Amino acid sequence: MIFNQWYVILESKELKKNKSLRVKRLNTEMALWRDDNGQAGCIDNRCCHRGVSLSCGKVVNGMLECPFHGFLYDQSGRVKVIPAIGRNRQPPETMKVPAFKTFESYGLIWIWWGDEEKCTAEPFFFKELAGFSFASFRDPWNVHYSRAIENQLDVVHLPFVHRTTIGSGNKTLVNGPVVIRDNEMITFYVKNVVDDGKAVPQKPDEIEDYEKLFHLQFHYPNIWQNFISDKIRAFAAFVPVDDENTIVIIRYYQRMFLIPFLKQLVNLIGIWVSIIILRQDKRVVETQLPKKSRMKMDERLIMGDKPIVEYRKHREEMMGQ
Ligand code: FES
Ligand SMILES: [Fe+2]
Repeated sequence: MIFNQWYVILESKELKKNKSLRVKRLNTEMALWRDDNGQAGCIDNRCCHRGVSLSCGKVVNGMLECPFHGFLYDQSGRVKVIPAIGRNRQPPETMKVPAFKTFESYGLIWIWWGDEEKCTAEPFFFKELAGFSFASFRDPWNVHYSRAIENQLDVVHLPFVHRTTIGSGNKTLVNGPVVIRDNEMITFYVKNVVDDGKAVPQKPDEIEDYEKLFHLQFHYPNIWQNFISDKIRAFAAFVPVDDENTIVIIRYYQRMFLIPFLKQLVNLIGIWVSIIILRQDKRVVETQLPKKSRMKMDERLIMGDKPIVEYRKHREEMMGQ
């Protein structure tokens, strides 16, 4: 995983008030809960006393109570109360577990994965989506999150994996694509066409007016959007679970319909179609080996794979490899 990054790990609705939640994210077992103000807390799931799973405990006075001997943890991971030594006595400072800084907005929860002093800004989000309404779905995939991301950067697979949906029309010839990286954002422009048997694919720098083409955007470490139109977007967050598992949060965003009932109906249809498309991807991507990608691996890439090469290259730069 790339260090010193904000990662989307959950949708807000997954974390209820007065209830602790156990998740595995970034290869780590975590316990989450909300304090009395609704603020999400996230700490290592293993009690520092005798190793019990903290997420089995209750939320008491905004803190998480270990179910074994009742130690109370605050959101910084510190034990604030040890009932056996008396509720009024301050536990030693060494009584603590690792805690993860959280951020919540747009119906998503992020954690900071890295050194806390390196966290100087809020996580990035595609802020224009704030004016849209959405429906969402979460799907577990048996791949490392790098493979799930690369699938959404892959413009070559469309006429094969999605022949019956978004890849219809037999546009198998891949021009470019044009890939623009701006710091942590990759935008890529797609110009797939039907192969007439004579055309040679255009190189990325031969494509004119590429800004007018259909395009997609990925922002490190784990969010993506597809510009279906000015008023419709698909969004995804690729939530790393461990080296072989990812949860894909997919959302259908639209701002065509605003009336409550109609809006919900359109969003439901939109997410239903998105799930069909996502499942077409999942069926194939879960067979990829190895489960995790890297820059130097035994794969023979082609020009159309440029977004994937760019993703791998920058990811490894960010990881200091
Ligand atoms: S194991 Fe958690 S309080 Fe004892
Ligand atoms: Fe796909």
